[in-house]
Amino acid sequence: MAGEYKELYEGWKRDPEGFWGKAAETIDWYKPADKVFDEDAGVYGRWFAGAECNTCYNAVDRHVEAGRGDQDAIIYDSPITGTKARYSYSDVKKQVEGLAAVLLDQGVEKGDRVIIYMPMIPQASFAMLACARIGAIHSVVFGGFAANELATRLNDAKPKAIVSSSCGIEPNRTIAYKPLLDEAIELATHKPSALIIFQRDQLSCDLTEERDVDYARAVDAVIAEGRSVPCVPVAATDPLYILYTSGTTGQPKGVVRDNGGHLVALNWSMQYLYDIKPGEVFWAASDVGWVVGHSYIVYAPMIYGATTVLFEGKPVGTPDAGTFWRVINEYNVAALFTAPTAFRAIKKEDPKGEFIAKYDLSCLRTLFLAGERADPDTVQWAEDMLKVPVIDHWWQTETGWAIAANPVGVELLPVVHGSPTVAMPGYDVQIVGADGHPVPANEMGNIVIKLPMAPGNLPGLWQNDERFRTSYLDEFPGYYQTGDAGYMDENGYLYIMSRTDDIINVAGHRLSTGAMEEVLSAHPDVAECAVIGIADKLKGQLPAGFVVLKTGVDRAPIDIEKELIGLVREKIGPVAAFKIAVAVDRLPKTRSGKILRGTMRAIADHEDYRMPATIDDPAILDEIEHALREHGI
Ligand code: COA
Ligand code: AMP
Repeated sequence: MAGEYKELYEGWKRDPEGFWGKAAETIDWYKPADKVFDEDAGVYGRWFAGAECNTCYNAVDRHVEAGRGDQDAIIYDSPITGTKARYSYSDVKKQVEGLAAVLLDQGVEKGDRVIIYMPMIPQASFAMLACARIGAIHSVVFGGFAANELATRLNDAKPKAIVSSSCGIEPNRTIAYKPLLDEAIELATHKPSALIIFQRDQLSCDLTEERDVDYARAVDAVIAEGRSVPCVPVAATDPLYILYTSGTTGQPKGVVRDNGGHLVALNWSMQYLYDIKPGEVFWAASDVGWVVGHSYIVYAPMIYGATTVLFEGKPVGTPDAGTFWRVINEYNVAALFTAPTAFRAIKKEDPKGEFIAKYDLSCLRTLFLAGERADPDTVQWAEDMLKVPVIDHWWQTETGWAIAANPVGVELLPVVHGSPTVAMPGYDVQIVGADGHPVPANEMGNIVIKLPMAPGNLPGLWQNDERFRTSYLDEFPGYYQTGDAGYMDENGYLYIMSRTDDIINVAGHRLSTGAMEEVLSAHPDVAECAVIGIADKLKGQLPAGFVVLKTGVDRAPIDIEKELIGLVREKIGPVAAFKIAVAVDRLPKTRSGKILRGTMRAIADHEDYRMPATIDDPAILDEIEHALREHGI
């Protein structure tokens, strides 16, 4: 391995506080940290204890004050609505101050929570930054989640206000948000006092007079008055946001992100990992509802003073498989970051890359992939087509930025297909067996990170330190359990192979099979069930639900299967992509009653499997195979 990365990583290991203390010099603080790392604070220690800062100031105001107000901050491109717009840093400041004033007028104060349920429009970014400006804690909920999921988050975060829009737009339909919001509020025990709704031309909605606020009208009024809203200093350790992510049950985990560590780590990553210069265009083709969207559509590019692209469309079908190349060409995109599934979708439509040939993509230096395992075929195709380095990197909602990557801004390490390369500074990654002891190179094990976690990583779960400890810290004392399994080779390259829990990854979206099982078992005709992730060429994995019906149910199984598919869509949302429900007579189990999910997965994926020694009744496996065949799988 060449020198620079190694030197940097070893330097961090020798002196983590010196490393991050130096990185913190790129951030504007109201008050510097008393301690770069306070090991006595929080669950495992806290970064930048005693410091005061404001994330919106760093992402917006400081660039305007530095004379870069006219530079593009956000480029909005929406092939789905045929809209394009550019917002300079000064424009963003005006919009964000306007919305911050509206939030203050609605009684939102420092420390209050605000739920943001928005499609991919610039107002989603403005809403996040407006919360940051006044020290409110936002919680963005992805638009593909149903009312029930929104209600769960309302009850946990207890927001004072919701910022939303009249509709979201998918290629095959327009989704009215207002009925969804009303239903969620009806379902939730916690009721927010204000709803600030951005009316879109495609579908507007009625507003309830005493509670609802028209976003644009209210912001325009504030701007016309010329009101300014200063950035509120917050502690570096105060929460910036809560982002809910799938856990093992229907109750999602509220991952907390703080202000100081997040500012430092994201800013560092733009230079050393993504190799971007301030003023260049960075495009993360994800959604603000996911962590990739939080970190790399909204915060990192703006903290760093780059230009970010906010894209409301899909890699295919809006209007065609050339849309990514058009955007790169039109806005001079230096680096694209997306999920491998997007490339699989493009490859399927345009295997020879005929659309690619139509555009000059010489501006593109690097393609970054994350969110799911980057399969070598897809990486190879992308390399052949784009002729730029294709960099897989591995991270999680919990970490907020990459645990392992190829640090292009430091040096481009040899790319090895199937590996997200090496641990980033901040992360001491180890592979351990079930007993917690390290396993030799190239041997599979649990991937863990030695505490403390890097700046920007979660300090805990929202008001639930206990769940933070039990979910991540208790199993391997002194280490954070990533929930991923894999191995490390003798050169320190990591290979992320699977999850150790019941989380699956569908089109780069993290979903809990446990949550789907909760929905299926609530159906009156279902006696027991198991949901597993089965391999899918496009989306990586797809959920498949196996149900055993109660004795005496005399309805046609196919009708119940359809109802179950509808139920998951209604309770969790379309994003669950739950389209396979299979009624079976029995589920395969061990003699102690444990469902043999791994074996079921192997059968569904047509892989060879060894008959589990502990199986109760091997004949059930044939029944499963037969049922799957009947469903065309
Ligand atoms: N609001 C409402 N519904 C949404 C939605 C949103 N924001 N996002 C997705 N959905 C719906 C889709 O319309 C689809 O509904 P359908 O069952 O009626 O077709 C369903 O949720 C499943 O969505 P998805 O799994 O994304 O499938 P898709 O067929 O719409 O698109 C891809 C497939 C590969 C093109 C798409 O997943 C993609 O672009 N992925 C990129 C990866 C990505 O952004 N990952 C985020 C982490 S980096
Ligand atoms: P999320 O929290 O939604 O970002 O999902 C995080 C999970 O996605 C990780 O724990 C992994 O299981 C998976 N994941 C993300 N990036 C990668 C990658 N580059 N390679 C393999 N798996 C990944």
